[in-house]
Amino acid sequence: MKNSSFFECIECGFQGPKYYGRCPQCQAWNSLVESAPMEEEESPESLGSQSPQKINAIDPQEIQRLLTGMDEFDRVLGGGIVTHSVILIGGEPGVGKSTLLLEVAAVLSEKGKKVLYYSGEESAVQIKLRAERLSIHSDNIFLFTIGTLEDLQRHVKELKPDFLIVDSIQTITSRKTQSLGGSVSSLRLITAAIIELAKKNGITVFIIGHITKEGQLAGPKTLEHMVDAVLYFQGEMQTDIRLLRAEKNRFGPMNEIGIFQMTEKGLTSVNDPSQVLIQNRQSRLPGTAIFPAMNGLRPLLIEIQALVSESPFAGNPRRIAIGFDNYRLSMLLSIIEKKLKLPFYKSDVFLNVTGGMIIREPAADLAVCSALISSYKNISADPNAVVMGEVGLTGEIRPISFLETRLKEAIRQGFSTFCLPAAQNQMTNNNDLSVFFIENLLDFFQHMKK
Ligand SMILES: Nc1ncnc2c1ncn2[C@@H]1O[C@H](COP(=O)(O)OP(=O)(O)OP(=O)(O)O)[C@@H](O)[C@H]1O
Ligand SMILES: [Mg+2]
Repeated sequence: MKNSSFFECIECGFQGPKYYGRCPQCQAWNSLVESAPMEEEESPESLGSQSPQKINAIDPQEIQRLLTGMDEFDRVLGGGIVTHSVILIGGEPGVGKSTLLLEVAAVLSEKGKKVLYYSGEESAVQIKLRAERLSIHSDNIFLFTIGTLEDLQRHVKELKPDFLIVDSIQTITSRKTQSLGGSVSSLRLITAAIIELAKKNGITVFIIGHITKEGQLAGPKTLEHMVDAVLYFQGEMQTDIRLLRAEKNRFGPMNEIGIFQMTEKGLTSVNDPSQVLIQNRQSRLPGTAIFPAMNGLRPLLIEIQALVSESPFAGNPRRIAIGFDNYRLSMLLSIIEKKLKLPFYKSDVFLNVTGGMIIREPAADLAVCSALISSYKNISADPNAVVMGEVGLTGEIRPISFLETRLKEAIRQGFSTFCLPAAQNQMTNNNDLSVFFIENLLDFFQHMKK
Protein backbone atom coordinates (compact mmCIF):
# COMPACT_ATOMS: atom_id res chain seq x y z
CA MET A 1 0.00 0.00 0.00
CA LYS A 2 3.08 2.22 0.23
CA ASN A 3 3.12 5.48 -1.75
CA SER A 4 -0.42 5.10 -3.04
CA SER A 5 -3.56 6.45 -1.48
CA PHE A 6 -5.91 4.28 0.53
CA PHE A 7 -9.24 4.65 2.28
CA GLU A 8 -9.59 4.99 6.02
CA CYS A 9 -12.65 4.97 8.29
CA ILE A 10 -12.88 8.14 10.38
CA GLU A 11 -14.92 6.31 13.00
CA CYS A 12 -12.76 3.28 13.73
CA GLY A 13 -9.52 3.62 11.77
CA PHE A 14 -10.13 0.67 9.39
CA GLN A 15 -7.89 0.92 6.30
CA GLY A 16 -8.52 -0.62 2.89
CA PRO A 17 -7.42 -0.22 -0.72
CA LYS A 18 -10.89 0.69 -2.03
CA TYR A 19 -13.94 2.72 -1.06
CA TYR A 20 -16.82 1.11 0.80
CA GLY A 21 -20.14 2.87 1.46
CA ARG A 22 -20.24 1.11 4.78
CA CYS A 23 -17.17 0.37 6.89
CA PRO A 24 -16.59 -3.42 6.96
CA GLN A 25 -15.20 -3.14 10.51
CA CYS A 26 -17.52 -0.83 12.47
CA GLN A 27 -20.48 -0.80 10.05
CA ALA A 28 -20.64 3.03 9.98
CA TRP A 29 -22.09 4.53 6.79
CA ASN A 30 -20.13 6.99 4.59
CA SER A 31 -17.23 7.05 7.01
CA LEU A 32 -14.38 6.19 4.62
CA VAL A 33 -12.14 9.00 3.43
CA GLU A 34 -9.24 8.88 1.03
CA SER A 35 -5.86 9.19 2.72
CA ALA A 36 -2.31 9.36 1.50
CA PRO A 37 0.52 7.64 3.33
CA MET A 38 2.70 9.79 5.57
CA GLU A 39 6.14 10.77 4.43
CA GLU A 40 8.24 8.98 6.94
CA GLU A 41 10.83 11.03 8.74
CA GLU A 42 14.17 9.46 9.31
CA SER A 43 14.46 8.44 12.90
CA PRO A 44 17.73 9.19 14.60
CA GLU A 45 19.84 6.28 15.79
CA SER A 46 19.47 7.24 19.40
CA LEU A 47 17.17 9.74 21.06
CA GLY A 48 19.72 10.29 23.77
CA SER A 49 17.30 9.05 26.40
CA GLN A 50 18.42 8.25 29.92
CA SER A 51 19.82 4.84 30.82
CA PRO A 52 17.71 2.29 32.70
CA GLN A 53 17.20 3.00 36.39
CA LYS A 54 16.79 0.59 39.29
CA ILE A 55 13.12 0.55 40.28
CA ASN A 56 14.16 0.88 43.92
CA ALA A 57 16.05 4.06 43.16
CA ILE A 58 13.01 5.87 41.81
CA ASP A 59 11.33 8.35 44.11
CA PRO A 60 7.55 7.68 44.14
CA GLN A 61 7.03 11.28 45.27
CA GLU A 62 7.61 12.32 41.70
CA ILE A 63 3.92 11.91 40.97
CA GLN A 64 2.31 15.06 42.21
CA ARG A 65 -1.37 15.76 42.42
CA LEU A 66 -3.11 19.06 42.36
CA LEU A 67 -6.52 19.38 43.97
CA THR A 68 -8.78 21.70 42.00
CA GLY A 69 -11.31 22.02 44.80
CA MET A 70 -14.06 20.88 42.40
CA ASP A 71 -14.80 17.78 44.48
CA GLU A 72 -16.46 15.64 41.85
CA PHE A 73 -13.77 16.45 39.28
CA ASP A 74 -10.95 15.58 41.68
CA ARG A 75 -12.70 12.35 42.60
CA VAL A 76 -12.97 11.14 38.99
CA LEU A 77 -9.24 11.70 38.51
CA GLY A 78 -8.48 9.57 41.56
CA GLY A 79 -7.82 12.47 43.96
CA GLY A 80 -6.82 15.49 41.91
CA ILE A 81 -5.00 16.14 38.66
CA VAL A 82 -1.73 14.28 38.27
CA THR A 83 0.66 16.91 37.00
CA HIS A 84 2.24 16.28 33.60
CA SER A 85 -0.49 13.83 32.63
CA VAL A 86 -2.58 13.93 29.46
CA ILE A 87 -6.32 13.60 29.93
CA LEU A 88 -8.83 13.03 27.13
CA ILE A 89 -12.44 14.14 27.68
CA GLY A 90 -15.19 12.98 25.32
CA GLY A 91 -18.82 13.93 25.22
CA GLU A 92 -21.80 14.66 23.01
CA PRO A 93 -22.25 18.08 21.44
CA GLY A 94 -23.54 20.61 23.93
CA VAL A 95 -23.12 18.45 27.01
CA GLY A 96 -20.82 21.03 28.59
CA LYS A 97 -17.24 20.00 27.82
CA SER A 98 -16.02 23.52 27.13
CA THR A 99 -17.86 24.82 30.19
CA LEU A 100 -16.26 22.17 32.41
CA LEU A 101 -12.75 22.86 31.19
CA LEU A 102 -13.11 26.64 31.34
CA GLU A 103 -14.14 26.24 34.97
CA VAL A 104 -11.17 23.95 35.57
CA ALA A 105 -8.96 26.58 33.92
CA ALA A 106 -10.42 29.19 36.28
CA VAL A 107 -9.71 27.26 39.47
CA LEU A 108 -6.22 26.40 38.26
CA SER A 109 -5.47 30.01 37.42
CA GLU A 110 -6.67 31.05 40.88
CA LYS A 111 -3.96 28.76 42.22
CA GLY A 112 -1.41 30.76 40.27
CA LYS A 113 -1.12 28.36 37.33
CA LYS A 114 -0.83 29.62 33.79
CA VAL A 115 -3.40 28.07 31.44
CA LEU A 116 -3.33 28.13 27.64
CA TYR A 117 -6.76 27.43 26.16
CA TYR A 118 -6.88 26.50 22.50
CA SER A 119 -10.28 26.53 20.84
CA GLY A 120 -10.76 25.52 17.24
CA GLU A 121 -14.52 25.74 17.48
CA GLU A 122 -15.32 29.08 19.04
CA SER A 123 -13.97 32.58 18.69
CA ALA A 124 -12.22 34.32 21.57
CA VAL A 125 -15.29 36.55 21.98
CA GLN A 126 -17.58 33.54 22.34
CA ILE A 127 -15.34 32.12 25.03
CA LYS A 128 -15.17 35.49 26.74
CA LEU A 129 -18.99 35.59 26.83
CA ARG A 130 -19.04 32.16 28.46
CA ALA A 131 -16.41 33.31 30.97
CA GLU A 132 -18.58 36.35 31.80
CA ARG A 133 -21.58 34.09 32.41
CA LEU A 134 -19.47 31.86 34.68
CA SER A 135 -17.98 34.92 36.45
CA ILE A 136 -14.45 34.02 35.41
CA HIS A 137 -12.06 36.97 35.45
CA SER A 138 -8.50 35.80 35.39
CA ASP A 139 -5.21 37.21 34.21
CA ASN A 140 -3.73 33.76 33.94
CA ILE A 141 -5.91 32.24 31.20
CA PHE A 142 -4.62 32.76 27.67
CA LEU A 143 -6.88 32.12 24.69
CA PHE A 144 -5.74 31.07 21.27
CA THR A 145 -8.30 30.19 18.61
CA ILE A 146 -8.36 28.40 15.29
CA GLY A 147 -4.76 27.54 14.44
CA THR A 148 -2.41 24.76 13.57
CA LEU A 149 -0.33 22.35 15.58
CA GLU A 150 2.77 24.35 14.66
CA ASP A 151 1.19 27.55 16.10
CA LEU A 152 0.33 25.66 19.25
CA GLN A 153 3.89 24.38 19.63
CA ARG A 154 5.21 27.91 19.21
CA HIS A 155 2.78 29.39 21.77
CA VAL A 156 3.65 26.70 24.30
CA LYS A 157 7.35 27.46 23.89
CA GLU A 158 6.85 31.19 24.28
CA LEU A 159 4.20 31.27 26.98
CA LYS A 160 5.41 28.26 29.02
CA PRO A 161 1.98 27.44 30.45
CA ASP A 162 1.43 24.93 33.29
CA PHE A 163 -1.75 23.64 31.68
CA LEU A 164 -2.91 23.32 28.11
CA ILE A 165 -6.53 22.78 27.09
CA VAL A 166 -7.20 21.61 23.54
CA ASP A 167 -10.81 22.18 22.48
CA SER A 168 -11.06 20.00 20.42
CA ILE A 169 -8.46 17.62 19.01
CA GLN A 170 -10.50 17.20 15.81
CA THR A 171 -10.12 20.90 14.98
CA ILE A 172 -6.31 21.03 14.90
CA THR A 173 -4.55 20.64 11.61
CA SER A 174 -0.89 20.39 10.87
CA ARG A 175 1.25 21.06 7.84
CA LYS A 176 2.58 17.53 8.17
CA THR A 177 -0.87 15.96 8.03
CA GLN A 178 -2.48 18.11 5.36
CA SER A 179 -2.55 15.21 2.91
CA LEU A 180 -4.43 13.10 5.46
CA GLY A 181 -7.43 15.44 5.83
CA GLY A 182 -9.41 14.74 8.99
CA SER A 183 -8.47 11.08 8.97
CA VAL A 184 -7.68 8.88 11.90
CA SER A 185 -3.96 8.77 11.07
CA SER A 186 -3.87 12.56 11.20
CA LEU A 187 -5.68 12.57 14.55
CA ARG A 188 -3.24 10.04 15.94
CA LEU A 189 -0.28 12.03 14.72
CA ILE A 190 -1.50 15.31 16.18
CA THR A 191 -2.30 13.66 19.50
CA ALA A 192 1.19 12.14 19.60
CA ALA A 193 2.71 15.57 18.89
CA ILE A 194 0.69 17.17 21.70
CA ILE A 195 1.68 14.42 24.14
CA GLU A 196 5.32 14.94 23.21
CA LEU A 197 4.90 18.69 23.68
CA ALA A 198 3.41 18.07 27.12
CA LYS A 199 6.11 15.66 28.29
CA LYS A 200 8.98 17.80 26.95
CA ASN A 201 7.71 21.04 28.50
CA GLY A 202 6.34 19.54 31.72
CA ILE A 203 2.76 20.66 31.17
CA THR A 204 -0.53 18.99 31.95
CA VAL A 205 -2.93 18.66 29.05
CA PHE A 206 -6.68 18.27 28.74
CA ILE A 207 -7.84 17.22 25.29
CA ILE A 208 -11.49 17.42 24.28
CA GLY A 209 -12.59 14.78 21.78
CA HIS A 210 -15.77 14.44 19.74
CA ILE A 211 -17.70 11.23 20.08
CA THR A 212 -19.35 9.11 17.43
CA LYS A 213 -23.02 8.19 17.17
CA GLU A 214 -22.28 5.06 19.18
CA GLY A 215 -20.92 7.18 22.02
CA GLN A 216 -17.27 6.24 21.46
CA LEU A 217 -14.51 8.79 21.13
CA ALA A 218 -14.05 9.46 17.42
CA GLY A 219 -10.82 7.87 16.29
CA PRO A 220 -9.42 4.45 16.89
CA LYS A 221 -8.91 2.94 20.30
CA THR A 222 -5.22 3.79 19.95
CA LEU A 223 -6.10 7.38 20.87
CA GLU A 224 -7.35 6.12 24.20
CA HIS A 225 -4.20 4.05 24.68
CA MET A 226 -1.98 7.06 24.09
CA VAL A 227 -3.29 9.23 26.92
CA ASP A 228 -3.12 8.74 30.70
CA ALA A 229 -6.84 9.07 31.41
CA VAL A 230 -10.03 8.96 29.38
CA LEU A 231 -13.11 10.65 30.79
CA TYR A 232 -16.59 10.73 29.30
CA PHE A 233 -18.91 13.62 30.07
CA GLN A 234 -22.54 12.63 29.66
CA GLY A 235 -26.01 13.70 30.57
CA GLU A 236 -29.55 13.56 29.38
CA MET A 237 -30.18 16.92 27.79
CA GLN A 238 -33.65 17.21 29.31
CA THR A 239 -32.18 17.22 32.80
CA ASP A 240 -29.48 19.38 34.32
CA ILE A 241 -27.53 16.43 35.74
CA ARG A 242 -24.19 15.67 34.09
CA LEU A 243 -21.99 12.63 34.76
CA LEU A 244 -18.22 12.56 34.35
CA ARG A 245 -17.01 8.97 34.10
CA ALA A 246 -13.42 7.67 34.17
CA GLU A 247 -13.22 4.95 31.51
CA LYS A 248 -9.49 4.65 31.86
CA ASN A 249 -7.15 6.14 34.41
CA ARG A 250 -3.50 5.30 34.88
CA PHE A 251 -3.53 7.08 38.24
CA GLY A 252 -6.83 6.11 39.82
CA PRO A 253 -9.74 3.68 39.89
CA MET A 254 -11.75 3.07 36.74
CA ASN A 255 -15.48 3.64 36.58
CA GLU A 256 -15.30 6.43 39.11
CA ILE A 257 -18.14 8.88 38.54
CA GLY A 258 -18.46 12.58 39.26
CA ILE A 259 -21.91 14.12 39.31
CA PHE A 260 -22.55 17.74 38.42
CA GLN A 261 -25.51 20.00 37.98
CA MET A 262 -25.53 22.39 35.00
CA THR A 263 -26.81 25.81 36.00
CA GLU A 264 -26.73 29.19 34.32
CA LYS A 265 -23.68 30.01 36.44
CA GLY A 266 -21.92 26.82 35.34
CA LEU A 267 -21.37 23.37 36.78
CA THR A 268 -21.67 22.65 40.47
CA SER A 269 -20.71 19.41 42.24
CA VAL A 270 -23.70 17.45 43.55
CA ASN A 271 -23.32 16.72 47.25
CA ASP A 272 -25.65 13.77 47.65
CA PRO A 273 -25.75 11.98 44.27
CA SER A 274 -27.75 8.92 45.42
CA GLN A 275 -30.53 11.24 46.46
CA VAL A 276 -30.52 12.99 43.08
CA LEU A 277 -30.44 9.72 41.14
CA ILE A 278 -33.52 8.22 42.78
CA GLN A 279 -35.49 11.38 43.43
CA ASN A 280 -37.97 10.91 40.58
CA ARG A 281 -38.69 7.25 41.05
CA GLN A 282 -42.22 5.93 41.02
CA SER A 283 -41.55 3.46 43.80
CA ARG A 284 -45.05 2.10 44.03
CA LEU A 285 -45.34 1.07 40.41
CA PRO A 286 -44.38 -2.43 39.21
CA GLY A 287 -41.17 -2.89 37.24
CA THR A 288 -38.62 -1.01 39.32
CA ALA A 289 -35.84 -2.01 41.68
CA ILE A 290 -33.22 -0.08 43.61
CA PHE A 291 -29.62 -1.24 43.57
CA PRO A 292 -26.55 0.30 45.26
CA ALA A 293 -23.99 0.18 42.44
CA MET A 294 -20.28 0.66 43.07
CA ASN A 295 -18.77 3.36 40.94
CA GLY A 296 -15.08 3.24 41.61
CA LEU A 297 -15.03 3.23 45.38
CA ARG A 298 -18.32 5.00 45.95
CA PRO A 299 -21.75 3.34 46.22
CA LEU A 300 -24.60 5.12 44.43
CA LEU A 301 -28.24 4.13 44.57
CA ILE A 302 -29.56 3.49 41.10
CA GLU A 303 -33.04 2.71 39.84
CA ILE A 304 -33.45 -0.18 37.41
CA GLN A 305 -36.66 -0.21 35.36
CA ALA A 306 -38.13 -3.04 33.33
CA LEU A 307 -41.03 -3.17 30.94
CA VAL A 308 -42.30 -6.59 29.92
CA SER A 309 -45.11 -6.60 27.39
CA GLU A 310 -46.70 -9.13 25.07
CA SER A 311 -44.66 -9.39 21.88
CA PRO A 312 -46.25 -8.81 18.48
CA PHE A 313 -43.29 -10.71 16.95
CA ALA A 314 -44.10 -14.31 17.82
CA GLY A 315 -40.95 -16.34 18.26
CA ASN A 316 -38.68 -13.31 17.92
CA PRO A 317 -39.35 -10.99 20.85
CA ARG A 318 -37.28 -7.86 21.43
CA ARG A 319 -34.73 -7.64 24.23
CA ILE A 320 -33.35 -4.15 24.67
CA ALA A 321 -31.15 -3.04 27.54
CA ILE A 322 -29.90 0.50 28.13
CA GLY A 323 -27.12 0.83 30.69
CA PHE A 324 -26.89 -2.95 31.12
CA ASP A 325 -25.29 -5.72 29.09
CA ASN A 326 -27.71 -7.22 26.53
CA TYR A 327 -26.17 -10.69 26.77
CA ARG A 328 -26.46 -10.68 30.53
CA LEU A 329 -30.12 -9.66 30.23
CA SER A 330 -30.78 -12.61 27.88
CA MET A 331 -29.01 -14.94 30.27
CA LEU A 332 -31.05 -13.75 33.26
CA LEU A 333 -34.28 -14.12 31.25
CA SER A 334 -33.37 -17.71 30.40
CA ILE A 335 -32.63 -18.50 34.04
CA ILE A 336 -35.98 -16.99 35.12
CA GLU A 337 -37.81 -18.98 32.43
CA LYS A 338 -36.19 -22.23 33.42
CA LYS A 339 -36.33 -21.85 37.21
CA LEU A 340 -39.62 -20.00 37.67
CA LYS A 341 -41.41 -21.36 34.59
CA LEU A 342 -42.39 -17.85 33.48
CA PRO A 343 -42.77 -17.85 29.67
CA PHE A 344 -40.77 -14.71 28.86
CA TYR A 345 -40.19 -15.95 25.30
CA LYS A 346 -43.61 -14.53 24.42
CA SER A 347 -42.74 -11.06 25.70
CA ASP A 348 -40.79 -8.03 24.57
CA VAL A 349 -38.42 -6.95 27.32
CA PHE A 350 -36.98 -3.47 27.82
CA LEU A 351 -34.55 -2.74 30.61
CA ASN A 352 -33.36 0.74 31.51
CA VAL A 353 -30.92 1.96 34.12
CA THR A 354 -32.18 5.46 34.86
CA GLY A 355 -30.18 8.69 34.96
CA GLY A 356 -27.87 7.56 32.14
CA MET A 357 -25.98 5.30 34.53
CA ILE A 358 -24.30 2.09 33.41
CA ILE A 359 -24.21 -1.08 35.51
CA ARG A 360 -21.51 -3.60 34.76
CA GLU A 361 -21.59 -5.57 38.00
CA PRO A 362 -23.02 -9.07 38.36
CA ALA A 363 -24.11 -7.97 41.85
CA ALA A 364 -27.04 -6.22 40.12
CA ASP A 365 -28.44 -9.50 38.68
CA LEU A 366 -31.02 -10.04 41.39
CA ALA A 367 -32.24 -6.43 41.21
CA VAL A 368 -32.62 -6.80 37.43
CA CYS A 369 -34.58 -10.07 37.94
CA SER A 370 -36.69 -8.31 40.55
CA ALA A 371 -37.64 -5.51 38.12
CA LEU A 372 -38.34 -8.04 35.34
CA ILE A 373 -40.54 -10.31 37.47
CA SER A 374 -42.28 -7.33 39.04
CA SER A 375 -43.23 -5.97 35.60
CA TYR A 376 -44.23 -9.36 34.20
CA LYS A 377 -46.39 -10.31 37.19
CA ASN A 378 -47.55 -6.73 37.79
CA ILE A 379 -46.46 -6.92 41.43
CA SER A 380 -45.23 -3.71 43.06
CA ALA A 381 -42.02 -4.21 44.97
CA ASP A 382 -41.66 -2.90 48.53
CA PRO A 383 -40.68 0.80 48.06
CA ASN A 384 -38.24 0.54 50.96
CA ALA A 385 -36.47 -2.52 49.62
CA VAL A 386 -33.03 -2.92 48.15
CA VAL A 387 -32.06 -6.12 46.34
CA MET A 388 -28.51 -7.37 45.79
CA GLY A 389 -26.97 -10.62 44.59
CA GLU A 390 -25.38 -12.31 41.61
CA VAL A 391 -27.55 -14.94 39.92
CA GLY A 392 -25.78 -18.15 38.86
CA LEU A 393 -26.86 -20.34 35.94
CA THR A 394 -28.56 -22.81 38.28
CA GLY A 395 -30.57 -19.97 39.80
CA GLU A 396 -28.44 -19.83 42.96
CA ILE A 397 -27.80 -16.41 44.51
CA ARG A 398 -24.09 -15.83 44.84
CA PRO A 399 -22.25 -13.52 47.25
CA ILE A 400 -21.26 -10.01 46.18
CA SER A 401 -18.38 -7.64 46.91
CA PHE A 402 -18.54 -4.44 48.99
CA LEU A 403 -21.71 -5.61 50.78
CA GLU A 404 -21.14 -3.45 53.89
CA THR A 405 -20.42 -0.29 51.89
CA ARG A 406 -23.51 -0.75 49.75
CA LEU A 407 -25.70 -1.45 52.79
CA LYS A 408 -24.47 1.66 54.58
CA GLU A 409 -25.39 3.88 51.64
CA ALA A 410 -28.86 2.31 51.31
CA ILE A 411 -29.52 2.67 55.04
CA ARG A 412 -28.33 6.29 54.90
CA GLN A 413 -30.93 6.95 52.20
CA GLY A 414 -33.68 5.48 54.40
CA PHE A 415 -34.07 1.97 52.98
CA SER A 416 -34.99 -0.63 55.57
CA THR A 417 -35.72 -3.92 53.77
CA PHE A 418 -32.93 -5.94 52.20
CA CYS A 419 -32.78 -9.10 50.09
CA LEU A 420 -29.21 -10.39 50.29
CA PRO A 421 -27.33 -13.55 49.26
CA ALA A 422 -27.81 -16.34 51.85
CA ALA A 423 -24.06 -16.98 51.86
CA GLN A 424 -23.55 -13.53 53.41
CA ASN A 425 -25.84 -14.02 56.39
CA GLN A 426 -23.16 -13.05 58.91
CA MET A 427 -24.55 -9.50 58.71
CA THR A 428 -25.05 -7.90 62.12
CA ASN A 429 -28.57 -7.80 63.47
CA ASN A 430 -30.16 -4.42 63.40
CA ASN A 431 -33.68 -4.37 64.77
CA ASP A 432 -34.83 -1.50 62.57
CA LEU A 433 -34.07 -3.45 59.40
CA SER A 434 -35.80 -6.43 57.82
CA VAL A 435 -33.25 -8.61 56.10
CA PHE A 436 -34.10 -11.62 53.96
CA PHE A 437 -31.35 -14.00 52.99
CA ILE A 438 -32.06 -15.52 49.60
CA GLU A 439 -30.76 -18.98 48.56
CA ASN A 440 -32.01 -19.08 44.99
CA LEU A 441 -34.34 -17.45 42.47
CA LEU A 442 -37.33 -19.54 43.53
CA ASP A 443 -36.78 -18.41 47.11
CA PHE A 444 -36.82 -14.80 45.91
CA PHE A 445 -39.99 -15.33 43.86
CA GLN A 446 -41.80 -16.73 46.92
CA HIS A 447 -40.63 -13.71 48.90
CA MET A 448 -41.91 -11.29 46.22
CA LYS A 449 -45.34 -12.90 46.13
CA LYS A 450 -45.84 -12.42 49.89
N1 LIG B 1 -27.47 30.62 29.90
C1 LIG B 1 -27.36 29.34 30.18
N2 LIG B 1 -27.99 28.83 31.25
C2 LIG B 1 -27.89 27.52 31.59
N3 LIG B 1 -27.18 26.64 30.88
C3 LIG B 1 -26.54 27.08 29.81
C4 LIG B 1 -26.60 28.45 29.40
N4 LIG B 1 -25.85 28.56 28.29
C5 LIG B 1 -25.36 27.33 28.02
N5 LIG B 1 -25.77 26.45 28.94
C6 LIG B 1 -25.46 25.01 29.00
O1 LIG B 1 -24.20 24.78 28.46
C7 LIG B 1 -24.28 23.79 27.45
C8 LIG B 1 -23.26 24.05 26.38
O2 LIG B 1 -22.00 23.93 27.00
P1 LIG B 1 -20.66 23.78 26.19
O3 LIG B 1 -20.61 24.75 25.09
O4 LIG B 1 -19.61 23.78 27.23
O5 LIG B 1 -20.81 22.30 25.60
P2 LIG B 1 -19.77 21.52 24.72
O6 LIG B 1 -19.86 20.10 25.19
O7 LIG B 1 -18.46 22.18 24.75
O8 LIG B 1 -20.44 21.64 23.29
P3 LIG B 1 -19.74 21.53 21.85
O9 LIG B 1 -19.62 20.08 21.56
O10 LIG B 1 -20.74 22.20 20.97
O11 LIG B 1 -18.44 22.24 21.93
C9 LIG B 1 -25.68 23.88 26.93
O12 LIG B 1 -26.13 22.67 26.39
C10 LIG B 1 -26.44 24.20 28.19
O13 LIG B 1 -26.73 23.02 28.91
MG1 LIG C 1 -17.30 23.09 23.22
